[in-house]
Amino acid sequence: MSPVSFPKDFVWGAASSAYQIEGAAVEDGKGESIWDRFVRVPGKIRDGSSGDVACDHYHRHSEDVRLMKELGLSAYRFSTSWPRILPAGTGPVNARGLDFYSRLVDELLEADIEPWLTLYHWDLPSVLFDRGGWATRDVTQWFAEYASVVARALGDRVRHFITLNEPQIFSVFGYLAGEHAPGLVDVPGYLATAHHVHLAHGRSVQAIRAEATAAKIGIAEQIFACHPATESDADRAAARRLDGLFNRWYLDALLLGRYPEDVLSLFSFLPSPVREGDFELIRQPLDFIGINNYTRQIVRHDAGMPLLEISTEGEREGAEYTEMGWEVCPKAFGEVLARLRTEYGNPPVVITENGAAMPETREAGQVHDPRRTEYLRVHLQELARQLAAGSNVTGYFAWSLTDNFEWTYGLGKRFGLVHVDYETQARTPKDSARWYARVIAANGIVE
Ligand code: FCB
Repeated sequence: MSPVSFPKDFVWGAASSAYQIEGAAVEDGKGESIWDRFVRVPGKIRDGSSGDVACDHYHRHSEDVRLMKELGLSAYRFSTSWPRILPAGTGPVNARGLDFYSRLVDELLEADIEPWLTLYHWDLPSVLFDRGGWATRDVTQWFAEYASVVARALGDRVRHFITLNEPQIFSVFGYLAGEHAPGLVDVPGYLATAHHVHLAHGRSVQAIRAEATAAKIGIAEQIFACHPATESDADRAAARRLDGLFNRWYLDALLLGRYPEDVLSLFSFLPSPVREGDFELIRQPLDFIGINNYTRQIVRHDAGMPLLEISTEGEREGAEYTEMGWEVCPKAFGEVLARLRTEYGNPPVVITENGAAMPETREAGQVHDPRRTEYLRVHLQELARQLAAGSNVTGYFAWSLTDNFEWTYGLGKRFGLVHVDYETQARTPKDSARWYARVIAANGIVE
């Protein structure tokens, strides 16, 4: 294999999120989030686990920062928990909650690791859900207030902010498919949510800039290629619809300042949530677009499915899948980057998540996970190809630093570079972590 090198100052990171790692669900004055509530609904989490304790990162953050240091990370992406900081969603600040993040940021900086802070990785305060949640326009004001509180407290030290993580995933799965918190199947609520996320994003960018003038601000979008199952017109149109709902709705709003007509027309039976002037607020100048990417979707027309009339294909002979059943398809990752170049003006991009749940074996204090290493390798190779083709990608964050609570799949699916034994909370860097550390040290793939 020929060596692959990355641009000077390329950011090498790993990512996590509050609910998935912190635990301490009811400690130090933290309020309840919609995920704290959702995991208690019988049948929602496949293995019946929850994030109540997860990786106990709330108490073990210093050890986790040491692990990052050992890996040589130049950056760490984490999220702050809104209800930990504002237990009532708005109003009084919980100083103990905020202090936790302040200490974490200090420890990171001391270790020479840049904190990249995500404000919202899906854990809306339950009290705000009870007041209408993402489906009410008020959420934009609530979110801006929360963004101000965080930026005021940490903006002197945190230089990179991400407003929302994957608005498409929490909107679609939380409000349309009922599979993520808050577990609703509500088409009008979905449409409102899918617009309010953008208003909230826009207002929070303004709020962060007001408190932390030098901050670099972006958003993390999960963007994936949608390929038709056959070349039939019906399947191609179906793939286009899925692409519209998940990808273009979000990228067009942020980067082009409009919603795609074909997606709007899917919802034409509903009143539009868009008001005069909204896109001026939404289209704030951004310093980067964060791209999360794991796989692609193969799409078929399916008249039996409501609204979109699509279904996505399961596993096929000859393709490789992760333990999530997600196809390993680095070419499709490259397609996403190419599309940002050609259809969206080649904005500055950071890969804010990429990784895989893969089989692994534990043996004599080691964890062997060759397929995770291979997944990372082929995706980084594809990234290098897109850089050579002109993509403006300045960093890469592996998902995830440690194994953690994988939402509806619970603790059973492991994405970590570092293994967590949930009985003892012992951390063990996997073989993939050692490989990634060598990539970071070489600023490239040498083996
Ligand atoms: C993404 C989420 C992240 C993690 C990965 C596997 O959609 O942002 O929290 O669960 O998938």
